[in-house]
Amino acid sequence: MPAGTVAAWRGVVEEFRGDLSLPAGAPAVSLREGNTPLVPALRAGRGADLYFKIEGQNPTGSFKDRGMAVAVSGALADGARFLVCASTGNTSASAAAYAARAGLPALLAVPAGEGAVAKGKLAQALAFGARLVLVRGNFDQALAAVRALATARPDAALVNSVNPLRLEGQKTGAFEVVQQLGDAPQWLCIPVGNAGNISAYWRGFCEYRQAGRSTRVPRLVGAQAAGAAPLVSGQWVDRPETVASAIRIGRPASAHLARAAVAEADGRFLAVADAAILEAYRFLAREEGIFCEPASAASLAGFWAAQRQGLIRQGEQVVCILTGSGLKDPDRAVAEGDPPLEAEATPEALLGALPRALCD
Ligand code: F0G
Repeated sequence: MPAGTVAAWRGVVEEFRGDLSLPAGAPAVSLREGNTPLVPALRAGRGADLYFKIEGQNPTGSFKDRGMAVAVSGALADGARFLVCASTGNTSASAAAYAARAGLPALLAVPAGEGAVAKGKLAQALAFGARLVLVRGNFDQALAAVRALATARPDAALVNSVNPLRLEGQKTGAFEVVQQLGDAPQWLCIPVGNAGNISAYWRGFCEYRQAGRSTRVPRLVGAQAAGAAPLVSGQWVDRPETVASAIRIGRPASAHLARAAVAEADGRFLAVADAAILEAYRFLAREEGIFCEPASAASLAGFWAAQRQGLIRQGEQVVCILTGSGLKDPDRAVAEGDPPLEAEATPEALLGALPRALCD
């Protein structure tokens, strides 16, 4: 092997194989996912010791790649002939990429309708050559359909997070947080949609503590959008609504796992209003220099809500998982930004666009 490549990050299957329940001898399908930065907050902490785990830096721009690498590795070991999933956009983008990598076709079911799936995510699915189906229904209905399809077709690999290998892969996010901080944080704040990721993180933290690699596990804050918050209300939501389309989910498939995790962790599910999500989204970009998608900003909104409620105290160590890249949803970024100006190509005209405070 040429010098300089020996220490290169190999992706979650090879880096963590000993800690994953993946069939022995399964090939590693990888785009070198994982190993994402943990960035200290400069201004968002408001007295807490806050960090952001930037999952948008995964190969397709979301945390789904961790789980998809493991699920698709398992699918190849099983001899699956195609991948199938329902999605609000990120799972489908990731499935499409790893399908291409594995040389398998992918069938993706996403909700139809304006704003149902962010444009960048649709672009990814198409670019990777997947078969994209716009389903007349919401995510929950699309998931029910692909689950039934996968039962009828044993040669299909269902790669939603009801596939246990998805959670196996996603727990590596917790492993990395422990490695990066030297221990588990006191709190983990994470957006909750279908409720797989919070369950996966909890499993990862518990396994590392059990193995003696950390001294503690974090308390959990699971942030749901107020219009799609079945785990806060205790009632399924038939028509989930939120600006954060990634977590517009009314019947989370892993609700049982997430409830158990939050109970064991002495945590809370908190509902955050769309206005609070967008405030966090803008703050992250403008005050921290971090561009994530709206659903990801729900974790910061959830952290602030927990702080206001006195749940998270001054000086405590907190990690917010920023699950996906802001580039996924260009329409939202444009809608939230100041409108661009148009000017002649002269220095005088450009200087005229400077904020007032810089004019003299
Ligand atoms: N953040 C982002 C950016 C997501 O795309 C999702 C889920 C979540 C948070 C919530 O994670 O479902 O494990 O509770 N997106 C799925 C999808 C549903 O189809 O891409 P969860």
